[in-house]
Amino acid sequence: ESTLGAAAAQSGRYFGVAIAANRLSDSTYATIAAREFNSVTAENEMKIDATQPQRGQFNFTAADRVYNWAVQNGKEVRGHTLAWHSQQPGWMQSLSGSALRQAMIDHINGVMSHYKGKIAQWDVVNEAFADGSSGARRDSNLERTGSDWIEVAFRTARAADPSAKLCYNDYNVENWTWAKTQAMYRMVRDFKQRGVPIDCVGFQSHFNSGSPYNSNFRTTLQEFAALGVDVAVTELDIQGASPSTYAAVVNDCLAVSRCLGVTVWGVRDSDSWRSEHTPLLFYNNGSKKPAYTAVLDALNGG
Ligand code: G3I
Repeated sequence: ESTLGAAAAQSGRYFGVAIAANRLSDSTYATIAAREFNSVTAENEMKIDATQPQRGQFNFTAADRVYNWAVQNGKEVRGHTLAWHSQQPGWMQSLSGSALRQAMIDHINGVMSHYKGKIAQWDVVNEAFADGSSGARRDSNLERTGSDWIEVAFRTARAADPSAKLCYNDYNVENWTWAKTQAMYRMVRDFKQRGVPIDCVGFQSHFNSGSPYNSNFRTTLQEFAALGVDVAVTELDIQGASPSTYAAVVNDCLAVSRCLGVTVWGVRDSDSWRSEHTPLLFYNNGSKKPAYTAVLDALNGG
């Protein structure tokens, strides 16, 4: 196959991209995105500050621009993200305790009902674990409502849209030996044992010199899949865009039957949140980088 999405589809997987609504009017960007990918994540437009800027007033204008573009171009959509310590609107940042807990529940219900039956996977909870060697939860206003906030979020999400796969999503959890990875593993294992509804784990995979790709990523994917959840590479970008590292990540996903697909976090280097790292698959002029060819070849079976 000659595009990333079609090549991934040969094994029943997708190859996705993060889309920014305000870039869709750029014809180079939109042409590449429409041609190459068969899954879309909104880079910012489905986040809490975008979808509920004032308490109780939902706004899906930008989110729907991304969603409608995706559907019109035949792509499935990953929802990102419902409960997160970051990109909270001001009104939510100022809440605590039971009021914040209720606001989280209301937010999940409001966004998921708007997209009921339309989203393949939701990142229900994003980035709840602390960096470093503690294996602890990240301190946040949500965590301070009680450490059961994550399972409450998942139970709320299941009731709001039973058709969506419900994912926990985080970064620096790709290396199997890291404390953060092990902490996330223990949470997912506990959720599966107690019947908390979780279907998938997203590994953001923002690889850079401080958090490099390690070949034990495949072990990580296998160990989580063995708990009975699907896994996905949800925000892939690699500092320097080494073709062999990109191919290794794709091959890790292909090696795990429960790996649903891979999403890259932007189209061209200039679209990246870390553009100075030139971490993506397309040059700023829209031409394909060596990493693109490496990914396509891997998806086509090497
Ligand atoms: O839209 C405003 C614009 O009006 C304003 O002029 C400009 C000035 O700063 O800011 C614009 O908003 C920025 C937004 O991106 C859109 O470009 C925000 O400041 C900026 O904080 C925001 O950054 C996003 C970041 O999440 C915020 O946490 C990045 O685009 C986005 O790529 C990044 O994505 C996250 C995932 O959601 C979770 N995992 C990590 C990943 C990378 O940080």
